[in-house]
Formats: sequence, C-alpha cells, structure tokens
Amino acid sequence: MTTLTETGVQAGRLADRIVNSPAGYSGIEPDQEWVAEILRLKKQRNATILAHNYQLPPIQDIADHVGDSLGLARIAAETDADTIVFCGVHFMAETAKILSPDKTVLIPDARAGCSLADSITAEDLQAWRDDHPGAVVVSYVNTTAAVKALTDYCCTSSNAVDVVNAIEPDREVLFLPDQFLGQHVARVTGRKNMHIWAGECHVHAAINGDDLEEKARANPDAELFVHPECGCATSALYLVGEGHFPEERVKILSTGGMLEEARRTQAQKVLVATEVGMIYQLQKVAPQVDFEAVNAKAACKYMKMITPAALLRSLTENADEVHVDPETARLAARSVQRMVSIGHSAPVSK
Ligand code: 13P
Ligand code: SF4
Repeated sequence: MTTLTETGVQAGRLADRIVNSPAGYSGIEPDQEWVAEILRLKKQRNATILAHNYQLPPIQDIADHVGDSLGLARIAAETDADTIVFCGVHFMAETAKILSPDKTVLIPDARAGCSLADSITAEDLQAWRDDHPGAVVVSYVNTTAAVKALTDYCCTSSNAVDVVNAIEPDREVLFLPDQFLGQHVARVTGRKNMHIWAGECHVHAAINGDDLEEKARANPDAELFVHPECGCATSALYLVGEGHFPEERVKILSTGGMLEEARRTQAQKVLVATEVGMIYQLQKVAPQVDFEAVNAKAACKYMKMITPAALLRSLTENADEVHVDPETARLAARSVQRMVSIGHSAPVSK
C-alpha cells in the first residue's frame, strides 16, 4: 500500500487503496468515484490529461485529448494548463517537457519505457555521426532526450516521409532507430543515400508477415491498416505486389492516420496491424466497421502501466515529474520544433 503524504492535496480514501508492485500501480477500479476524483484533482492542479491511442480504455475516456505522438506533442506545446499529465510512455512525456519547459509534466508511472527508444543511446549516435560527417540525422520521436539533442530533425510515423523529403536530395541521411519505419520511408521517398539503424519495437516486430498473410487470406474483402513500425509492413506490400490484395486496400499509417482513415472507410472489415489498444479508439470513431487485430497479443506492457491507479496517484502526489537537463532540452528543442512544424497532423479526439 502506498502512503500518499503530499501537503496541499488531500489524499482521499480512494488513493489509500493504491497498490504498488514491480508490475505497476493497481487496486483501483475505473468507476464513478474514480472519475469524480480524477476530475476534482485535475481542476485543482489546472492540469490537462493527454492520452496516446494505445492507452487503456478508461484512460482514453477520461483524457482531455487522445491522439498519436505528433498530435499530442503539438497540444503539449500549446496548452494553457499548468500541468500536463502524459498518459503514454516516457519519451512522449519527455518530448512534452522539451516543448513546454516551464510547465509541470507528469507521467503516471515513470517505469513506462519503450523498447524502441532503448535501442539506441546518445553514445551510439555520436559514434554513427562521426562515421558519417555531414550527414543529416533524422530521429523518430521514440528516442531519449539525449538522442534528440544530437539530432537534426525529429519525426513521427505521421510526418517521417515529409521530413525526409524536406532534406536536400544530395545530403546523406542517418535515420534511426526503427528499421521498419526507415525502410518504409526509403521506399516512399525513393531515397538511396539513407542509412537506417537496426532498431525495432518488440511489439510491432512481433506482428509478422505470416500473421498478416493468414488473416488477409481469410478476409479477402477487408482493408489493411498497418503501422510502419510493424515487421509486416513489407509483407503487406508484397501481398499487393503478388496480386493478393488491391493496392488501394492497404494503408500504411500512423495511429492518428488510422483514425482519419477509419472515419472515411467504406469497408465492413478492417485488419489492424499495430498495438491492440488502437482497436478501442477505431471502434469508437467507426462503430459500423469490424476492426480486427492482426495479432491480438500485440500489447505494449509499458503503455498498459498507465492504469487508473497510476493516474490517480499521479494527480494526488504530483508524480512522477519529468525532468530534462536544461542544456539537453535546449539542444533537443531544435529537432523537436522542426518535427512539430513539418507535415500534417491527424486530428486528436475531444
Ligand atoms: P504514433 O506516432 O503512430 O502514435 O506511434 C507511436 C508509437 O509508439 C507506436 O508504437
Ligand atoms: Fe515503444 Fe513499441 Fe510500446 Fe510503441 S508499442 S511505446 S514503440 S515499445
């Protein structure tokens, strides 16, 4: 049982029920009492709650904004709130802090990391840059602040193509850390002078071509929504190339792009290749469509650490506060600002 002792905020009986274990915070049901307490504490702190599309349904439902990493970063940069509670993983909250250094940024559980962000360190990147003097460094937003500080352009899956297209064609590009997104960007831009780091997200890498082929053959009239971090993005295009799927039915999209496409689609069934939390938001915006996960076991354990108990603790204790060393933040802000200013952002919900 945690002890909630912060002065200034009255720790209610509800927060006394929070249980902390290595797997995360638990012990709280997302019922009406929880909703009322979260809304009360949020008002008291003049906080805004941002939730990524992979968050648990009660977290998505109580958030002020639900969206993809680019859309949420843009909101974090513009909010009038004093406190940003970022329901997502650590690099997302760090990005919010870089964009809004004067605000208090909280993540409900600082243990919510990201296997993709962990696949490259600042030392790795410095050595790679030294091997390619003059190259432009493009980092996916799933990186630490220290990596962003050594980066020229940050991008997300929804603007990676626009960012790479904005770089002079004769400059070498170092793209990191996701190899599947990198391959997708190289394919779409036709760029030959792009070096790609061999990182991957363990959740998306596990959504493989075999899963996709099996589901696609069983649902010949379905559309396919595929996140570019997936190991199966190449297989999806192979299915098109082999004539098993018409090209217009395969969409490689960021999580925000999937929601935009869901609002437009005429299909009755859509196969979704990304983290399973996405299905909730998709079903919400297009209830008439049957969305099916290509791999129903593809859950990100880090995203799921932001539980109702973790959010309650966060607002009660003003924790876990995200700090970025000011010099790192200053250097990282250049590349992150470029990311926010390039390309189209899918609208966030609410
Ligand atoms: P989006 O940028 O599409 O929201 O994806 C972020 C992410 O972490 C995917 O795993
Ligand atoms: Fe990171 Fe993968 Fe989880 Fe996204 S799904 S936050 S890339 S570990």
